[in-house]
Amino acid sequence: MFMASYLRRYRRQIGFFCLPCILLLPVYIYVSIALCYIMKHGAPHGAHVVHSVLPKHFTSSGLQHSRDLAPHPAKSFWRNELDSGALWNIIQYMTDRQYNPILRSHLAENPSSVSNKTKMSRRTGDRYSPNYEINNIMPDYAKLPIQMKNFVTTMHCRDYPLIIDPLDVCDAQAKVGAPTLLMAIKTQTANFENREAIRETWGRSGNIKTLGGLQRLVRRVFLLGKSEDLHIEEKLHIESEKYGDIIQWDFMDTFFNLTLKDVLFWDWFSRRCPHAHFIFKGDDDVFVRTPAVLDYLLAEEADGGSSNGSRQANKMETFVVGDVISNASPIRSNWTKYYIPESFYKGLYPSYPGGGGVLYSGSLAHRLLEVSQRVHLFPIDDVYVGMCLLRLGVYPINHPAFLTFDFPKDEPKEPCANHTILLVHKRSPAEMFQLWNETSTPSPKCRNATLRVKLRPD
Ligand SMILES: *[C@@H]1O[C@H](CO)[C@@H](O)[C@H](O)[C@H]1NC(C)=O
Ligand SMILES: *[C@@H]1O[C@H](CO)[C@@H](O)[C@H](O)[C@H]1NC(C)=O
Ligand SMILES: *[C@@H]1O[C@H](CO)[C@@H](O)[C@H](O)[C@H]1NC(C)=O
Ligand SMILES: *[C@@H]1O[C@H](CO)[C@@H](O)[C@H](O)[C@H]1NC(C)=O
Ligand SMILES: *[C@@H]1O[C@H](CO)[C@@H](O)[C@H](O)[C@H]1NC(C)=O
Ligand SMILES: *[C@@H]1O[C@H](CO)[C@@H](O)[C@H](O)[C@H]1NC(C)=O
Ligand SMILES: *[C@@H]1O[C@H](CO)[C@@H](O)[C@H](O)[C@H]1NC(C)=O
Repeated sequence: MFMASYLRRYRRQIGFFCLPCILLLPVYIYVSIALCYIMKHGAPHGAHVVHSVLPKHFTSSGLQHSRDLAPHPAKSFWRNELDSGALWNIIQYMTDRQYNPILRSHLAENPSSVSNKTKMSRRTGDRYSPNYEINNIMPDYAKLPIQMKNFVTTMHCRDYPLIIDPLDVCDAQAKVGAPTLLMAIKTQTANFENREAIRETWGRSGNIKTLGGLQRLVRRVFLLGKSEDLHIEEKLHIESEKYGDIIQWDFMDTFFNLTLKDVLFWDWFSRRCPHAHFIFKGDDDVFVRTPAVLDYLLAEEADGGSSNGSRQANKMETFVVGDVISNASPIRSNWTKYYIPESFYKGLYPSYPGGGGVLYSGSLAHRLLEVSQRVHLFPIDDVYVGMCLLRLGVYPINHPAFLTFDFPKDEPKEPCANHTILLVHKRSPAEMFQLWNETSTPSPKCRNATLRVKLRPD
């Protein structure tokens, strides 16, 4: 009696709470059935897929057979499609897949070999050596310019020995007293005059006074391959004995071999000068306002450093700055020295700092050395650096004071323009002396000039 009246009294409330439950019942049943189905059919099949072929999309194995649940993503978050018919894209695609942290477990026959990076890159180099069936991958091989042919047939080689290895540039052990800036300048045996001008102007070695009046240690090396002219090769050895700033490797110093200088320099750096804070890497026909560069770098290094050490360390691991070129396409005109045929590379280039002059941290150089082991050589050196940065997830910083294409032609002449730059291309040895003179002793009017901020008009 009491119960009945109680129920009647609360019927409204009970109805209010239970009605949604009753309405949702079919949904519960539906979900339960779906889950049972998945557990029964989905998982074992998914586990099987792991060992045979790669799944088309990365979806949790349980979802593979349920068309009723949310559709799995139409696109996987790594590229599945291959830019077929382009040699570099094909071999790099295979290497990228081998190092993809998710795919790696699917691909490795022997997981321990994957963790051994040197072994892996050697093996990749052998297995995908372009010497095999090159005509199948590059049907136009016979018609390519000679420098492209030379590149393709030797692109798996990068362990060239040193011919000249200067030992006194840095004290490799000393962390305290390591150079603030190591300047690594690409040059060729015959460019003796450029090297002389650089040694006496912007590439001076020793304690250099910054604009702010501090003293910082700067070291300099020149990066060279070998030439066929035995006479000037002999002169180079004499030059090396005099200055101790020549690094030479045993490969032909050609335009398409310039990438080797980056890769081999990172290796040299890691052994001979591993504690340098920053690296300038550039050409021998630029002018660098080194004292201003030092002030800029010290400010960047100090930024956030004193208050928060870990943030600063992270910043330095990704620090690279220059004239950043984005969305560039390969040059397809076969009469230029930059010509890259479609049978070799397809697609845009990743963002890269122009090779005329770029600054990066020592810690990034160590990471570049490591990642370069799994990026196939590319004939254009600065693009190659961009490809390595992309795989490190590092975005180069664009700075308008790097004028790798000189001052814009339509820009009005400013009396203090030369005091607003960090780097300008291109300058002859005579202009280097003149600019060094002018910027070292600025007129009172130009003493307060600040770095350019205006972006280069496109
Ligand atoms: C990696 O491979 C190299 C060369 O094959 C070998 O010397 C080294 O011991 C290996 N390292 C590991 C951790 O297996
Ligand atoms: C690069 O140097 C190697 C070794 O000297 C040489 O065999 C190769 O032809 C060179 N590559 C190019 C593109 O000149
Ligand atoms: C540094 O920053 C991180 C996060 O940005 C913070 O967790 C940490 O406490 C900071 N350390 C110091 C010493 O300020
Ligand atoms: C450049 O391409 C044109 C047209 O494809 C061809 O006729 C010419 O021989 C090529 N030149 C060189 C130097 O490969
Ligand atoms: C800047 O330097 C160049 C040499 O590279 C020189 O010709 C020019 O006169 C300089 N500009 C000024 C305003 O001094
Ligand atoms: C450098 O400047 C001084 C005056 O400041 C001048 O006498 C000298 O000729 C200049 N040298 C060059 C190479 O321009
Ligand atoms: C340059 O800067 C200093 C200090 O900031 C200032 O005292 C001086 O007047 C400035 N000179 C010119 C020419 O602007």
